Amino acid sequence: SLRRILVCGGAGYIGSHMTKYLAARSIEPVVLDNLSTGHRRMVRWGELIEADLLDADALDRAFASRPPFDAVMHFCARSLVGESVQAPYDYYLNNVSGTLNLLQAMQRHGVDRIVFSSTAAVFGPPQAERIDEDHPKAPINPYGASKLMVERMLADAAHAYGLRSVSLRYFNAAGASPDGDIGEAHDPETHLLPNVLRAALGTGLGLKIFGNDWPTPDGTCVRDYVHVDDLAQAHLLALDYMTHHPGAHAFNLGNGDGHSVMQAIRSVEALTGRSVPFEFAPRRSGDPAVLVASSERASKELGWQPVYRDLESIIETAWRWHKREAAPASSSAPPGSATS
Ligand code: UFG
Repeated sequence: SLRRILVCGGAGYIGSHMTKYLAARSIEPVVLDNLSTGHRRMVRWGELIEADLLDADALDRAFASRPPFDAVMHFCARSLVGESVQAPYDYYLNNVSGTLNLLQAMQRHGVDRIVFSSTAAVFGPPQAERIDEDHPKAPINPYGASKLMVERMLADAAHAYGLRSVSLRYFNAAGASPDGDIGEAHDPETHLLPNVLRAALGTGLGLKIFGNDWPTPDGTCVRDYVHVDDLAQAHLLALDYMTHHPGAHAFNLGNGDGHSVMQAIRSVEALTGRSVPFEFAPRRSGDPAVLVASSERASKELGWQPVYRDLESIIETAWRWHKREAAPASSSAPPGSATS
């Protein structure tokens, strides 16, 4: 049974939702984060160990804490496609070397289970309407390549050392905790939905749509949005799965529906009753036109059943969080003090 889990990257967007999800199920999360992109205020369900994966001594100290960890969930990474093209060494150092350090620390301390945050970017240009696990893996940027290298390390480690792992390849993570207490807070924000919601609130830097000449129905890019709490659900199911399935496994996580950038904007307008000003801008390099998952394997093998199946319900949770973030009182209030 699971009692205590090391959540690497637990101060970040998806990791923090994971800690809340675990705590609600009486499993203790311990967060390890270097706070390079994560936030101390998002660490509310468990202790924070401020440490970097590149620091092997710090990892030894973390793993020496008691009671021992039953498993590791690994959300730490540099995760921007464009940045990875400009600064590939940062991506290979943090995402590949950092993970190797983590795996070696796990080995030294006898922890043999890990859920790894992978990405749709491991596939490269889609060759099918829906991308399943058998789709060719040919990443076109250092970010995707770094994640695929880790998947390969996990497969080799399963063979050589008996490490048990599940790689979860998220498509477009979105949404926030439904009670609005934690959510997506990147700086700078490059992701679509937060930028659209900020435009609706009038707090953004001006929304740009990157390209209206893509080979899609309305000319804007199509993505498969999946709620962070549904990703958290998949992580816990993945740990269950490992109990009876040794080896290294990988699953794609999305809702299987594509939504264009324009559709996302219209959904936000309908839901908030506000208009979303935007302008068209040139295509962003590295963007594929369409990315949609087939998650049949996750539903069959893991028993994964996303709660938020449509874009509107995902946006609704994100809107609650962004409204609260934009309210003047909430920014100065200590964590947990907000009411309503
Ligand atoms: N977009 C805009 N304007 C914005 C932000 C985004 O038009 O201000 C567009 C993008 O061009 C893209 C779509 O909205 O077509 C979604 O962009 P995001 O940045 O929200 O998400 P991505 O699909 O680029 O990235 C996601 C993950 C990455 C992962 C990638 C796989 O965030 O970690 O999918 O391709 F690598």
